[in-house]
Amino acid sequence: MMFKNVSDVQERLETAQYIPSREIATVVFLAAATRKPILVEGPAGVGKTELAKAVSRSLNCELIRLQCYEGLDESKALYEWEYAKQLLYTQMVKEKISDILSGAHTLSEAVDKIASQEDAFFSERFIQPRPLLRAISSQEPVVLLIDEVDKSDPEFEAFLLELLSDFQVTIPELGTQRAKNIPFVVLTSNNFRDMSDALKRRCVHIYIDYPGRDLEIRIVKLKIPGIRDRLAEQLVDAIRSIRRLDLKKKPCISETLDWARSLIALNIDELSPDILFETLNMICKYRGDSEMVHRELKSILPHAV
Ligand SMILES: Nc1ncnc2c1ncn2[C@@H]1O[C@H](COP(=O)(O)OP(=O)(O)O)[C@@H](O)[C@H]1O
Ligand SMILES: [Mg+2]
Repeated sequence: MMFKNVSDVQERLETAQYIPSREIATVVFLAAATRKPILVEGPAGVGKTELAKAVSRSLNCELIRLQCYEGLDESKALYEWEYAKQLLYTQMVKEKISDILSGAHTLSEAVDKIASQEDAFFSERFIQPRPLLRAISSQEPVVLLIDEVDKSDPEFEAFLLELLSDFQVTIPELGTQRAKNIPFVVLTSNNFRDMSDALKRRCVHIYIDYPGRDLEIRIVKLKIPGIRDRLAEQLVDAIRSIRRLDLKKKPCISETLDWARSLIALNIDELSPDILFETLNMICKYRGDSEMVHRELKSILPHAV
């Protein structure tokens, strides 16, 4: 699971429908070479999640995703015993259990006899592996996406840190599982809260900001083949001016792409103030933001006004 060099990363990600800046390609290369996780920070919709997906496509390996949220704990992230299944099995093997218990005279003898059989119920058969355990126990190399890690609690972050330092987990009943292949790990964060220094130290860090003009135009052309060059440029320029306004929610790359698709669907090949206002719902998600765009039309479409 290796890239030859930075240009190789760049080419392979592009083939996987992701256009990386040189900085992103370099970080991916170094992370793969040093087997360190990548911690990607930045505003919503700049391609953080997509980067992990694209890396998995470019390496042709499975993507295992752990979506983080407040309250996420080990039982949902690592593994859980399947109590319902264990219970069902005990029901079905009732007779066998009576056999085992026969001859036990006291309650404690019975408990001892049952205890001697507990391996049968605490075996891999009754484990529900969650994303982290799946990533560690996979026979093939995988890309592990730990998405929006800033939404998880600090205790969970501490647990992750441990996992990311030795890629092994100990399940008391089953022993220690060590990763056969160290996964390529991508953690993303929208900076909802700061990640600990310890986590940052463990990772190769990158901040992805809104793309530069040329990069965004290339992304639009890649994702919407057939769009006219001129329209792609107009739309990216307009989006960039809108981002400069003091909005509650700045439009991200997803909005640029949605907007481009809408204009194509409407058969429009030239951006005008009327068209901008008619399709503004694709870009602005708050009424105040739309109003500001109306007021600032002159700075958004300087040639059209
Ligand atoms: N460099 C890029 N190349 C191609 N598509 C991109 C790029 N950056 C972002 N996108 C597109 O932008 C959209 C939003 O990306 P996403 O990864 O969901 O954002 P985030 O996880 O940062 O909120 C996706 O449709 C993705 O395909
Ligand atoms: Mg995301």
